[in-house]
Amino acid sequence: QVPAATPQWRPAFHYTPQAMWMNDPNGLVFHQGVYHLFYQYHPHSAVWGPMHWGHATSTDLLRWQEQPVALAPDVLGMVFSGSAVVDVDNRSGLGPAGSQPLVAAFTHHAMDADRAGGITHERQSLASSLDGGLTWTPYAGNPVLPNPGRKDFRDPKLRWLPERQRWLMALACGDRICFYSAADLKHWELESEFGAGLGAHGGVWECPDLFPLTGPDGRQRWVLLVSLTPGGPNGGSATQYFIGEFDGHRFTPDDTQVRWLDFGPDNYAGVTWSGVDDRALFIGWMSNWQYATQVPTAPWRSAMTIPRELVLRTGLGGQLLLASQPARDMAALKQPATLSARQTTLAQPLDLSAALAGAHGRFMLRLATPALASFTMSLENAVGERLRLGHDADSGRWWIDRRASGETAFHPAFAAQHSAPRLADGPPSTLELWFDSGSVEFFADGGLSTMTSLFFSNRPWSSGTLTAATAMPLDSIDVHPLGDAR
Ligand code: FRU
Repeated sequence: QVPAATPQWRPAFHYTPQAMWMNDPNGLVFHQGVYHLFYQYHPHSAVWGPMHWGHATSTDLLRWQEQPVALAPDVLGMVFSGSAVVDVDNRSGLGPAGSQPLVAAFTHHAMDADRAGGITHERQSLASSLDGGLTWTPYAGNPVLPNPGRKDFRDPKLRWLPERQRWLMALACGDRICFYSAADLKHWELESEFGAGLGAHGGVWECPDLFPLTGPDGRQRWVLLVSLTPGGPNGGSATQYFIGEFDGHRFTPDDTQVRWLDFGPDNYAGVTWSGVDDRALFIGWMSNWQYATQVPTAPWRSAMTIPRELVLRTGLGGQLLLASQPARDMAALKQPATLSARQTTLAQPLDLSAALAGAHGRFMLRLATPALASFTMSLENAVGERLRLGHDADSGRWWIDRRASGETAFHPAFAAQHSAPRLADGPPSTLELWFDSGSVEFFADGGLSTMTSLFFSNRPWSSGTLTAATAMPLDSIDVHPLGDAR
């Protein structure tokens, strides 16, 4: 039986395929003015199955055009997660002399693990495109990196190392990240391993990404993203990060504390775009393996987060932290403000209903306060469902409560309250919320504390209040309805 379509939960500015199952973003590459977004895709079902690479393109990170499936399973197995780069000097030889092929590295996951030798069923392979990413040819010499005897051996993320004139591959190897290098993308040599016994290990490590960022002091650091499932701070899937040094061979973290890119339940397997050098441009899969196959949307399942910029910032106690912000491109979605106030005090509950009228549940709310207090924002709809969020000064935590937000019964873990520690020093604080049909992205203190959360309300949020426990001054508060990018 085909489930009834659920247009009420179709996002207006988050990417989702027209139909069927999607998970991790793959092959993020910017090439000739086009942002490519490939992704784990099952074109024949709305649940996970033999994995393909689906494909979408955008020139502005807002409007996405779905493209034909780019890669399909073959005799070596399913096409698992991976990355793509522009091979500017054709070092791979996968294009004709003088060409600049697009090269994807991905994991071939044998369909029948036992026949492939049990634990050696994941191997790294290549594919190339000579038409700007529209069609892809698997390399005849696949796999290029055989399995050395590891159960989990997947999700290659490529980066060019100019100092070494070699390609680097970060690879998830079970409880650690393995770094390989190659001059030609074909002959890989193990450089080092990182992470056994370090960081969060509540689940298997997946989808690494290593990239440089300049800190507020002007010093270059390296950031290593590592997704893991389960073991996230609010249950199930989540992405942790390390900040440290990379000498071209080995990653050395500055310390061993566990840190999370996003404390919410619905941001997984995110990585950054290659070919974008002036910012770390990131997108994540907006779901959680706990319940991803059961969320009640049809005919599609899963969306991506909004594109984000990752930056290094000084946070609590002077520590260097990774902050996430909506990509600046998102600002083009903002419509004229329906609420805009400066230098006021939140003494009485502030009624948000007029500001939300006509927004269809799609809006950006931003507030800045010089003296953060406990406060609650409660959003309601015409059928009495509610989403609440806020800050609790006693515990020093930000929180989102989706227990009464609509459909929650499809999985026992879904109806929950989630929280994130406040990671900024001092009382000035900002909160920016991006609401789409079915999701909220929560950026507190300039993105030091971030939470991404799905919900399935049966009507858009049409009324609401903002209430502070003690009078809270506001430097500013603004609400902008957000446009439809479909
Ligand atoms: C992460 C992941 C990857 C794998 C892919 C399979 O969500 O498990 O490690 O390559 O999904 O779809």
